[in-house]
Amino acid sequence: MAIRPILHYPDKRLRIPGKPVEDFGADFQQLIEDMAETMYAAPGVGLAAPQIGVSLRVFIIDVATGEDEPSQLRVFANPEILELQEEIAFDEGCLSFPGAREEIQRAARVRVRAQDQHGEPFELETDGLLAIAIQHENDHLDGKLMIDRLGVLRRRMLHRQMLKRAATESRASV
Ligand code: NI
Repeated sequence: MAIRPILHYPDKRLRIPGKPVEDFGADFQQLIEDMAETMYAAPGVGLAAPQIGVSLRVFIIDVATGEDEPSQLRVFANPEILELQEEIAFDEGCLSFPGAREEIQRAARVRVRAQDQHGEPFELETDGLLAIAIQHENDHLDGKLMIDRLGVLRRRMLHRQMLKRAATESRASV
């Protein structure tokens, strides 16, 4: 198992759409393990393969937060959003936008079809944080980021904030 580096905006690799997962063999199992380790270490509630530079249509989510809530890792390979219902504004973060939180409009309820870690198809209808996370992570598979869902002004501010952060990070690592 290995923690993989998470790409940060404005890394262009975040814009590459994922290809369908066709092989659920050993390499894919290793990828899921690495993604899980990377997500829990961050920590985050969701991670999509393109965020670690792997252009595949797969993301993982674990929305368990409190100590009394059992941790449940969910794998969504080749997801398809079948239905979106109602609207909600939600304060979102993203591991590719360290330190940022932005209010984003999403559907409150989602129905999704996907394949699990072993390629078994499943369907899920859900709401709450899980529904938000599914929409957020699904965007990553199309190279779409939370900044794209902001109004012009907030988008500019977040863009500048991230450039500034990237500059500080590269100086620090020299
Ligand atoms: Ni994200």
